[in-house]
Amino acid sequence: MNAVQQSATQQDDEKVLVAHDLKKHYSVKRGMFGTGTVKALNGVSFSLQRGRTLAVVGESGCGKSTLARQLTMIEPPTSGTLTIDGEDVANASGAQIAALRRRVQMVFQNPFASLNPRKTVEQTLGEPLAINTRLTASERADRIAHMMRIVGLRPEHAKRYPHMFSGGQRQRVAIARAMILDPQIVVADEPVSALDVSIQAQILNLFMDLQEQFRTSYVFISHNLAVVEHVADDVMVMYLGGVAELGDKATVIGRPRHPYTRSLLSAT
Ligand SMILES: Nc1ncnc2c1ncn2[C@@H]1O[C@H](COP(=O)(O)OP(=O)(O)OP(=O)(O)O)[C@@H](O)[C@H]1O
Ligand SMILES: [Mg+2]
Repeated sequence: MNAVQQSATQQDDEKVLVAHDLKKHYSVKRGMFGTGTVKALNGVSFSLQRGRTLAVVGESGCGKSTLARQLTMIEPPTSGTLTIDGEDVANASGAQIAALRRRVQMVFQNPFASLNPRKTVEQTLGEPLAINTRLTASERADRIAHMMRIVGLRPEHAKRYPHMFSGGQRQRVAIARAMILDPQIVVADEPVSALDVSIQAQILNLFMDLQEQFRTSYVFISHNLAVVEHVADDVMVMYLGGVAELGDKATVIGRPRHPYTRSLLSAT
């Protein structure tokens, strides 16, 4: 093995994110006076490699979106450690957290809700560039047009508002926004389940093309096993805030060990 091959292999093994025993407990009101604790995440550990897709599956309420909020640093975990790009998030300074947030972007289920209806595509994509880069206005415009082409939108539609696009096109805008700062990780929470079945495959293929082009790592949350089959390298099955099963796709889907995974597979 020569040095180039060796460094390529090392990069392939590179862990861009490591979660260790992540917990998120919420205190909730119970009845008139009582309070209780919801253990939305209760000890989740996994790692994500560069350029790979970890699909996260599990029944409603098992903690998938809670996990997404921890990974994107929208809210801090109750305990456990999250290491992104070698940095322990809990010990990072404010400036380091801001930098890490740029490297981990999120795509939500519903592009109607996640895009600001009062902003044009140009404004939606231009904002992260204006805040995080020193590009000039004309460089930003070039970058926006380039990104629009990459996600399959026409740059001449840059002045359009979200309502002027179809659902699939709107999700393309949301994906362009997530990708415009070239993040290392994209966390996608059911990104095609609000779309017409006929365009789901197009959007999944877009995700895969982008991954090939930019070697982005994905955490891809879905309840749809056909979607998981299509996009995943590895699969994590969650159950009641924990990990029921974790492994490569062929093993988890082909030879499920955990009874919960078997019942999930037989349900479809
Ligand atoms: N902010 C919160 N306060 C209290 N409980 C919460 C909060 N957020 C989530 N939960 C609870 O945590 C559990 C996990 O919720 P979560 O939204 O992560 O599930 P999910 O797997 O994404 O479900 P779905 O498939 O329906 O989207 C649920 O019992 C939920 O009610
Ligand atoms: Mg959810």
